[in-house]
Amino acid sequence: MQSERLDYALNMLLEGEDINLLKKHAERISEDYRDGTGPSKRIVNDAKKAKAYAASRMPATYRAVYDSLRYVISVSDLCVSSVLDVGAGTGAGIFACTDLLQAEDITLLEREESMISIGKQLFSCDSLLSSARWIKASVQDIGTDKKYDLVTASYVMNELNEEDMLRTAEKLWDITGDTLLIVEPGTPKGYANILVIRDILLQKGAYITAPCTHAGKCPMVEDDWCHFYCRVQRSRLHKQLKGGEAPFEDEKYSFMAFSKKEAQLPELRVLRRPRIYKGHIMLTVCSKEGIQNITVTKKEKERYRDAGKLKAGDAFY
Ligand SMILES: C[S@@+](CC[C@H](N)C(=O)[O-])C[C@H]1O[C@@H](n2cnc3c(N)ncnc32)[C@H](O)[C@@H]1O
Repeated sequence: MQSERLDYALNMLLEGEDINLLKKHAERISEDYRDGTGPSKRIVNDAKKAKAYAASRMPATYRAVYDSLRYVISVSDLCVSSVLDVGAGTGAGIFACTDLLQAEDITLLEREESMISIGKQLFSCDSLLSSARWIKASVQDIGTDKKYDLVTASYVMNELNEEDMLRTAEKLWDITGDTLLIVEPGTPKGYANILVIRDILLQKGAYITAPCTHAGKCPMVEDDWCHFYCRVQRSRLHKQLKGGEAPFEDEKYSFMAFSKKEAQLPELRVLRRPRIYKGHIMLTVCSKEGIQNITVTKKEKERYRDAGKLKAGDAFY
């Protein structure tokens, strides 16, 4: 799923830009992220870099939030009027939310002026987003006087130290009216962040809506981590920025959604790409009983047909 709205806004933003310069900034940003993030590292802190971030990363972060939210919507009757996106960057998460949900009251909180400025330019091209409210602040200073039906934080928790991250997660939970969605890079560190947040929010009475199939201990063993892939089609500009001719790239992400209401969780969550053989399909799934390898045979007709369409991250029954 590509966002026509995001593609249009990015095309408008990047018209006439020097691609080689954008590429140089995009490469620098990836190197800086590879070297590690942290509270004192301000990686995207000027307008050129923010534009390069938008061009090179927004299609993938949009897609990770879109897929995560779709999994949430499939098990809950999520209906939102207000949304808050923190560490919003240039607004990818809000494009995803508003492609899936109708929200009138949209707020984005971000600490870098450069990101806000590029985000505002992108939003000015979109009738659903032109009245969104941007707040320049640190996520640690977020006010607790207002609640939002949906609160999202994508690819930001890994930029905080652990203490700030946990305090922020609790605060975000306090201002959540219905659902809190956390998306992180699909790395061992991103998943570890999600796990500690899972622990503290379960203690605060949160219900998980996705991706877990239960609220018990996560069955992933030490050298494995829960993450999924989303496939991002690459535009001509994207290919120029990232190099190579591949028509798509796979974005790895980890996520978790917490709700104030209990949801009917799926029996099984597919953890890996299904292995399709002649007459049977093998699935690695997470369930209440732990991680299991199950086989669906052609004899199971409808279930076999459904299994053939699955990808990692999908629910199964
Ligand atoms: C990797 S970007 C992700 C942006 C966006 N959420 C997305 O998914 O594309 C991380 C963003 O978090 C912001 N950020 C990092 N620490 C922050 C803090 N303490 N308060 C507010 N924003 C912060 C950064 O400035 C950056 O824009």
